[in-house]
Amino acid sequence: MTRELYSIKNHAEDEVKKAGSLQAIQHLKVKYLGKKGVFTEKIKSLKSIPQEERPEYGRILNEIKNHIEALLKTEESQYKSSEMERVLQTQSIDVTIPGSYVPIGHLHPTTKVLNEIIDIFTSLGFQVEEGAEIESDYYNFEALNMPKDHPARDMQDTFYINDDLVLRTHTSPVQIHVMEKYTPPLRVVAPGKVYRCDADVSHIPMFQQLEGFMVDDHISMSDLKGVLEVFLHNVFGPMTSIRFRPSFFPFTEPSAEVDISCVICKGSGCNVCKNTGWVEILGAGMINPRVFELAGYDPDRYTGFAFGLGIERITMLKYGINDIRLFLENDKRFLEQF
Ligand code: DAH
Repeated sequence: MTRELYSIKNHAEDEVKKAGSLQAIQHLKVKYLGKKGVFTEKIKSLKSIPQEERPEYGRILNEIKNHIEALLKTEESQYKSSEMERVLQTQSIDVTIPGSYVPIGHLHPTTKVLNEIIDIFTSLGFQVEEGAEIESDYYNFEALNMPKDHPARDMQDTFYINDDLVLRTHTSPVQIHVMEKYTPPLRVVAPGKVYRCDADVSHIPMFQQLEGFMVDDHISMSDLKGVLEVFLHNVFGPMTSIRFRPSFFPFTEPSAEVDISCVICKGSGCNVCKNTGWVEILGAGMINPRVFELAGYDPDRYTGFAFGLGIERITMLKYGINDIRLFLENDKRFLEQF
């Protein structure tokens, strides 16, 4: 009986010795120790061994099984480590080879500049509000002191959706919505897309503006100048000169156009500033009391300033871009420069 066990042992030892590969060892593991393996079957058939021989037989079977199991384990780990050795010898990794290039997108230049502008105003305590791009005639014009048939409407050529709805021509209507919703003090910036029937090197039919306004008791023109100075010095550098020119907007009185010293020639004269040394940067003024009245604010109590600027225009001046249409062409050679 036990002789058979010893012959299995010898045979197994022989097979392990001749295995020659990790795969063959793993094969032998299954053959001897697997669910239907040689030793497993022997253990199952213990019952058929005469009772008086069973303890001795079982002991020897166990011993041989453990011995072969240990042998397979040692061989397996040896094959594994020599396999690792072989891989290390034959497959070296050159860590100096440049990695594969994964193109990474980034924000559009106008988005970058808009974010920068919003950061400056929020650091001054302004809150950000947004309005709808489809606006009623009332909010886009009338409530901003531009009654129907008023010639000032000609300043902003418009896309009409119907008699009463327009694609907003500016972000100024957000002033009215905010005033209807909140009571002063107000410190608000309102960025967003606006639309006009216009297309050439410096005009596109859809562009972005940022409206800013502040309303409280005792807001004056000097608050407007102070806020704009902080803003423009942050965007264009502290050496930038700023000047106010009298102008006209129906929703502000007095109104001004604000210029900065030319960012290209620093004021000495070039084709960007048409040799004047100044470039126009935004429109501003003190909110017209008529606008307060229409929004339901007491014009005798509150004063406020407002301004509106074009994001594309600021981006063009900041980076010396001479054609506004570049922003919409999605030419990577242009976009990758920012
Ligand atoms: N809404 C004007 C425009 O689009 C810009 C503007 C000018 C806004 C003066 C203002 C302002 O708030 O005070 O042409």
